[in-house]
Amino acid sequence: MSHATPHYASFRSIGAYVPEKVLTNADLEKMVDTSDEWIVKRTGIKERHIAADDEATSDMGAKAGQTAIERAGLNAEDIDLVLCATVTPDYFNMPSTACIVSDKLGIKNVQAFDISAACSGFVYALSVAKAFIESGMKRNVLVVGAEKFSSIVDYTDRTTCILFGDGAGAAVISATENKDEAFVDIHASADGSYADFLVTPAPGSVNPVSQKVIDEGLQYVQMKGNETFKLAVKTLTKDVKEILEKNNISAETIPHFVPHQANYRIIKAVGDALKMREDQVVLTVHKYGNTSAASIPMAINDIWESGRLRQGDMMLLDTFGGGLTWASALLPFAGKSL
Ligand code: ACO
Repeated sequence: MSHATPHYASFRSIGAYVPEKVLTNADLEKMVDTSDEWIVKRTGIKERHIAADDEATSDMGAKAGQTAIERAGLNAEDIDLVLCATVTPDYFNMPSTACIVSDKLGIKNVQAFDISAACSGFVYALSVAKAFIESGMKRNVLVVGAEKFSSIVDYTDRTTCILFGDGAGAAVISATENKDEAFVDIHASADGSYADFLVTPAPGSVNPVSQKVIDEGLQYVQMKGNETFKLAVKTLTKDVKEILEKNNISAETIPHFVPHQANYRIIKAVGDALKMREDQVVLTVHKYGNTSAASIPMAINDIWESGRLRQGDMMLLDTFGGGLTWASALLPFAGKSL
């Protein structure tokens, strides 16, 4: 009896795109009743980037995707699945942003679909890519995390508008027969009983577009910030401890802990609970704010472009977001170092 060679999923490359326009805390001070001091103290955010009016989520996703494909040493024809994690798609609800990204990249006639898991979307998409590759169905998956959060933020609501930014990140996940390059583990989970913690009430089947939707601003993101904060710290700490214990890996040996960049205080609390040193914890929240599904790949791109992420380095990803959803992953970087 013959056995086919097993396929493992490996993280081949990373790319990102950051829109040009910068929205600083000083700018926000002129828009709502807030202060740079409050924002920095409560969130660690100093500025965030905002997409141009004519720049869609797919434009940013395609730019990040192009970079990731080039850095993997591949061409558009090599990609056989495109996943786009986003909750700010080009269109509610069709076509999917993944279809549009594929078209912009010249990726023809391959399966493409979106993943909706808010800030956890990129790690959710990695788990889907892993499953497709390990089952032997696909060989090179483009995973994009792209958000134009500014399109659903109410810039008169000081409790949300200070938090979010726009941007995109992308990775190519490829089949490998080398177990050293393989994803170690991914854990993703959800609890819909907390759906009202983070919600854009419209448009959707509950609240189709109407004058009432516009009058009440139901198209904007709403968040129970404080409740979400407490649950995020508790859930993430438990989740990352579990994935490390399950795989018998101690936190101190991880060179790059890449948490979702929602709030410096959440990152610090989880990092401290794991006894992580400062140099292990990747931080971009001060310059990008919370870019939801784009936050983790943008952060990975930052350490790659600064030369910190080397081939073979282990990464611990963890994230938490609307749904509620959460996820963590342990995987080595299998691409070339800069
Ligand atoms: N400027 C000044 N004051 C403000 C601002 C602001 N921008 N926003 C709120 N306040 C005030 C509030 O009105 C409140 O005033 P009060 O005490 O008089 O009522 C006070 O500051 C404290 O408000 P809290 O909401 O309790 O502040 P908190 O310390 O919780 O910080 C924050 C708020 C930053 C939103 C925090 O709760 C947070 O980061 N939450 C988690 C966000 C998150 O992780 N989301 C999940 C991922 S996002 C996704 O999936 C899309």
